[in-house]
Amino acid sequence: MGEAVIFLGPPGAGKGTQAARLSEELGFKKLSTGDLLRDHVARKTPLGERVRPIMERGDLVPDDLILDLIREELSERVILDGFPRTLPQAEALDELLKETGMRLLGVVLVEVPEEELIKRMLRRAELEGRADDNEETIRRRLEVYREKTEPLVRYYGERGVLRRVEGLGTPDEVYARIRAALGI
Ligand code: AP5
Repeated sequence: MGEAVIFLGPPGAGKGTQAARLSEELGFKKLSTGDLLRDHVARKTPLGERVRPIMERGDLVPDDLILDLIREELSERVILDGFPRTLPQAEALDELLKETGMRLLGVVLVEVPEEELIKRMLRRAELEGRADDNEETIRRRLEVYREKTEPLVRYYGERGVLRRVEGLGTPDEVYARIRAALGI
């Protein structure tokens, strides 16, 4: 039977960092919708050209495009980083997991105060130059998170699968908390 873990949390919380380590150690595929989209943008594919301005503004890419990507990339044992991000995406994922007989091991919510999120993303802008890591877009991403993604905290809380994890501290400390929260 297939298994999935979801990483939820605001931009800059450390989802990608932690999902990468967990996927490597568990031998799960890491499926990051943000990375997939950035790859399309870099390759200037038709999808990349369509989503580039949306991502540069800090808005969300339409659900149907994201769900097409997920259907293409879903695998037996998967760590989902940055998906789902809206209630329709979460409902579609529930259906997909049901259809494929996959079990949700848990939804890790990485919690970090907003000042620290902004600091982390501005630092990354200096190091990596990610197009959406400028102050204006960061503020928009945080606003979009609160409006569109935060309702998923309640959605998964009501289903008894939410695992809240303190995201401050070193990456090693956060990782240990995640393993403990998931019990794996
Ligand atoms: P996405 O790529 O998912 O970006 P995000 O959610 O904004 O998240 P980030 O990658 O900024 O942060 P993260 O939580 O992964 O943290 P990270 O580990 O990198 O999405 C980008 C865009 O794509 C969206 O805005 C949207 O347009 C589109 N998109 C993607 N998915 C979508 C979907 N499902 N639906 C619709 N649109 C979608 O860490 C951040 C930084 O902090 C790094 O520099 C890292 O080195 C550092 N760091 C990590 N841990 C620590 C620590 N413990 N202490 C100090 N620094 C740390």
